Amino acid sequence: MKGIVLSGGSGTRLYPMTRAANKQLLPVYNKPMVYYPLTTLMLAGCREILLVVNPHDEDAYRRLFGDGSQWGLAIDYAVQPKPGGIAEVFLVGRKFIGGDRVGLILGDNLFYGDSLPSVAERGALGSGAVIYAYWVNDPSAYGVIEFDGAERPISIVEKPATPRSHWVVTGLYFYDADVCDIAASTPRSARGELEITDVNAHYLKEGRLTVEKLGRGYAWLDTGTPTSLLRAAQFVETVEDRQGLQIGSPEEVAWRKGFIDDGAFARLIEPIRQSEYGRYLQRLLARS
Ligand code: TTP
Repeated sequence: MKGIVLSGGSGTRLYPMTRAANKQLLPVYNKPMVYYPLTTLMLAGCREILLVVNPHDEDAYRRLFGDGSQWGLAIDYAVQPKPGGIAEVFLVGRKFIGGDRVGLILGDNLFYGDSLPSVAERGALGSGAVIYAYWVNDPSAYGVIEFDGAERPISIVEKPATPRSHWVVTGLYFYDADVCDIAASTPRSARGELEITDVNAHYLKEGRLTVEKLGRGYAWLDTGTPTSLLRAAQFVETVEDRQGLQIGSPEEVAWRKGFIDDGAFARLIEPIRQSEYGRYLQRLLARS
């Protein structure tokens, strides 16, 4: 299964933190932000990963991830010349997608919940487009989904002044290979961007959009403002401290999913054994 992590953007709302560093490289508590969405894709079974990055950030991402083989992944990189909207990923990533189904996750989105792996796996194995809806207090900043009495989606509206529901589109999506042609034929919005909402609305019109609701047992956080970034960090710290288990560790997910064996896991730990993170991974291996 192929997956794309969208890690470009301008990060204007986090200025000046994003003046020199790309948003998705900033820490969320004890890991780079991009680790969280990457591991969500890994849990969904994606092993061929494309990182879409800004031109001047490619080196930093290559330093962070290399070719992904250390985690049993094949990681490649594609440059988005400038932030032109989320759906531009399907133009930049066209070659990578080829004729295959693909997952897309936004690099600043953090998902957490017990059955998330199986829910995401259903999207990966599904047909057409599969997106995920989450109930939020203030839907007007998002793509808002309206459902009919039979729970079928009937409209998706981007940042409506008067939202028709509290269910909004999250930053995790799965599409068939048609998505590249659909994105290519989608006109740019008034703000000059290729809108993911227009792509989803296209699938909806064709009757090929599935919306899975993520209920109250899930956390979906984004990290785009100073306050939401702090809250995400506090959430991760709270859960990790309580359980003694970490959220969003690619080494751990790779090992638990069987992408790497015990020996490869131990070799990853060796050079970082003095860090808190390394000691955590060591404890996992010792307990197994
Ligand atoms: P946004 O948070 O909507 O935009 P941004 O990251 O540029 O931040 P700001 O609004 O503060 O200027 O982006 C959502 C995610 O998608 C984020 O992870 C960055 C990514 N993204 C791209 O990689 N390319 C793009 O063209 C856009 C619009 C977003």
